[in-house]
Amino acid sequence: MGKKIFSGVQPTGNLHLGNYLGAIKNFVELNNDKENDCIFCVVDLHAITVKQNPKELRNNIRETVATFVASGIDPKKSIIFNQSKITAHSEAAWILSCTARTGWLSRMTQFKEKAGKDKEKASVGLYSYPVLMAADILLYDSTHVPVGDDQKQHLELCRDIAQKFNNDYEVENFFKVPEPLIQKEFSRIMSLKDGLKKMSKSELSDLSRINLTDDADQIVNKIKKAKTDPLPMPDHKDELNQRPEAKNLIGIYSSLTDTKLENIINEFSGKNFSEFKEKLSQALVEKILPISKEINKLLSDEKFLDTILLDGYEKANKIASNKIKKIHEIMGF
Ligand code: TYM
Repeated sequence: MGKKIFSGVQPTGNLHLGNYLGAIKNFVELNNDKENDCIFCVVDLHAITVKQNPKELRNNIRETVATFVASGIDPKKSIIFNQSKITAHSEAAWILSCTARTGWLSRMTQFKEKAGKDKEKASVGLYSYPVLMAADILLYDSTHVPVGDDQKQHLELCRDIAQKFNNDYEVENFFKVPEPLIQKEFSRIMSLKDGLKKMSKSELSDLSRINLTDDADQIVNKIKKAKTDPLPMPDHKDELNQRPEAKNLIGIYSSLTDTKLENIINEFSGKNFSEFKEKLSQALVEKILPISKEINKLLSDEKFLDTILLDGYEKANKIASNKIKKIHEIMGF
């Protein structure tokens, strides 16, 4: 049976290799399976949990759509829309925030990381953001949610919210309890400057990530400067646990080229990192450059991108409004 897929990406600019290998690459595979119904959402309501410049946000929404399409998602096959256009998302988020427990939210590690030391200054939205994410998923009866490893905890929370709502209102199976789709290996791509830190758009140094809009020179330069350790390339997989930078670079190569880790280790064992880095740059340029060129081409046609969003809105809104109506009945509104 086909799956009902839902996933979201924040339009905060600088989509990077982590977003691509952890999520978007999977979106494309799921989109290509005829059996699946896929919805890919540009989560602009999530983006405003931290301060945004409205003009930049508008551009970043279009850039995220362009990235989806340039990576291979077919807007005729999959629904692409932006979250803020469908008011059911905010409404369901409020309703579900009355189901979610504060104790559950207080355990979310991403909030702790993002809020940093001064939690009192973080927005309420940043704290309750996983509830909005649950609303996104549950409104569409999604069965599977493809994400990177960093979203795992939020998906567990979504499952808890769905189950509690179904129990509280005695509506068995009303909200479908979704399954996460997280790759077994390399579902967390790390910074090029620190193998223990996640590759992220909020990291200050641009050298820490490969952006999907980087050109060949930038990619080659960033890989050349990527942190490694002083040892030669590893002889065995087990060594990687003590060598985070090597693990990350080899993981990126493995994921990009769909090559088994063991095969890469056999090919490069004992060699210098520079030789491997050359191969890695080559693979990255081959994969990223066509996407980057296509993003830039699509960005010059705003009308085309806006039509995709409008078309997606119409399709998604039908599903979401229908679910909200049923929620109203259940709640006694
Ligand atoms: P966001 O916008 O931070 O990231 C989008 C997707 O990219 C993945 N990702 C990574 N994967 C591997 N390595 C990395 N370094 C890396 N960085 C990011 C994320 O896991 C994610 O899959 N809350 C979500 C968006 C969201 C959502 C949803 C997702 C909102 N509603 C409903 C699924 C379903 C977020 O902020 O992702």
